[in-house]
Amino acid sequence: MNSAITSWWDTNWSGDRSEALVFGRTGKLIRVRGFGRYRKPSVGIGRSGKSRRANFELRMRAEGAGRKSAFRETGRAVVFRTNMSSKTLKIAALAGDGIGPEVMREAIKVLRAVEKKFALTINITEAPVGWAGIDAAGKALPDATLKLCKESDCILFGSVGLPDRDPTIPKEERPERAALLRLRKEFSLFANLRPVKLPKELSHACPLAKERQGTGIDILVVRELTGGMYFGQPKKTEQISAGASKATILRAIDTMVYTTPEIERIAHVAFKTARLRRKKVTSIDKANVLENGVLWRDVVTTVAKEYPDVQLEHMFVDNGAMQLVLKPTQFDVMLCENMFGDILSDEAAALGGSLGMLPSASLGSAGSTGQFGFYEPAGGTAPDIAGKNLANPIAQILSTALMLRYTFNLNDAALAIENAVGKVISDGLRTGDIFSASETNARKVGTTEMGDAIAAAI
Ligand SMILES: NC(=O)c1ccc[n+]([C@@H]2O[C@H](COP(=O)([O-])OP(=O)(O)OC[C@H]3O[C@@H](n4cnc5c(N)ncnc54)[C@H](O)[C@@H]3O)[C@@H](O)[C@H]2O)c1
Repeated sequence: MNSAITSWWDTNWSGDRSEALVFGRTGKLIRVRGFGRYRKPSVGIGRSGKSRRANFELRMRAEGAGRKSAFRETGRAVVFRTNMSSKTLKIAALAGDGIGPEVMREAIKVLRAVEKKFALTINITEAPVGWAGIDAAGKALPDATLKLCKESDCILFGSVGLPDRDPTIPKEERPERAALLRLRKEFSLFANLRPVKLPKELSHACPLAKERQGTGIDILVVRELTGGMYFGQPKKTEQISAGASKATILRAIDTMVYTTPEIERIAHVAFKTARLRRKKVTSIDKANVLENGVLWRDVVTTVAKEYPDVQLEHMFVDNGAMQLVLKPTQFDVMLCENMFGDILSDEAAALGGSLGMLPSASLGSAGSTGQFGFYEPAGGTAPDIAGKNLANPIAQILSTALMLRYTFNLNDAALAIENAVGKVISDGLRTGDIFSASETNARKVGTTEMGDAIAAAI
């Protein structure tokens, strides 16, 4: 047996502390049961049997194989998590501005219900960020808030930015750049996952005609987050002289840059995630025009060979934008570079009924202490409805489900949240953004009541 558990992507705990689905090096999905010694049972990382925790030893048995077919992990780093409930989950909760504090309050309420039900120990520390950070400590990302994030397992984020506040503050110091982009960079969050799921009860909230919604829209946009046009250098606006008169004009330059490793790592994320879904990846590029597109397509095609069970198709971004509204049900995982993903994930978000329904996860590389992640709703601070108990807290609540799944490998707890949200939706509870008077069983509720109902359904 020559298999490796290399990160959370490779594990899918069933709730039994010693059972997992792992992807073997051949790409085959194998169910294994741990039966050896776990001298350090919470999180272990080892390489060639000489881990930093020298006593860590992992023995497993493939399903259906004899008891003696144990293998020991060697040669590759392994991240192995068991029995997370014995560990304190350390969460930095940064609510931010606008509706952030309102929806965060409901998410924490739901997390407390999950903590009770699954006998977890969840340590949530709240800290200011965005304009709240500027008001509290003069900076959109106060030093104490950053320190807290570094000491935590993950960040549960609300949203930041209030366009009408103090225009004299330069854009580099405003929350969107000084807090949000800074955090993405600080934690090397290269993969953004945005699940868009339209529950059948909310088909009225989708802008597409019912026949285009098929049996339901369920798309995961996997967006590269740290490369491409948004970060490539040179990036500047300069004065140049042009034309016969040599008149001075302005020229703006942005640069699109991708390297092979950057494309490879995001492609692996897409394929591994697709394996947990309907096993199809649509890779988006502009290979007919851009050098970046040609490289993107080549690298993704090469990576796909490691995932023979996942179907790969390539699509130009302009066609992708069109297909999303013509036939969204054809998509499972959409793999996009940074800018294309930014645009298409918002387009896909519109299909989910409301921004208030859409969670997201931003992940970096799995480190020795596990998978650091940044979890936030897809929408912003919604200043138009802030402070009025009108915001839909579901995006923030579903973000906590992603957090439990990806950072803590607590799939059962994540499912409990997703099922609770499904239950209150099918019970007819609606915040204003998803309410339609044409629904006979629907009842309009505020932010707090929606949070209470979901917490009660856990
Ligand atoms: N990650 C972030 O922190 C983030 C993301 C996007 C925008 N922003 C910032 O938010 C501010 C406002 O931006 P915007 O108005 O363009 O986008 P927005 O997402 O805040 O609002 C767009 C529309 O969606 C609605 N909406 C959003 N979330 C909702 C929810 N949970 N429930 C019900 N309705 C919801 C709003 O009421 C509004 O009508 C800006 O400063 C922007 O920079 C921050």
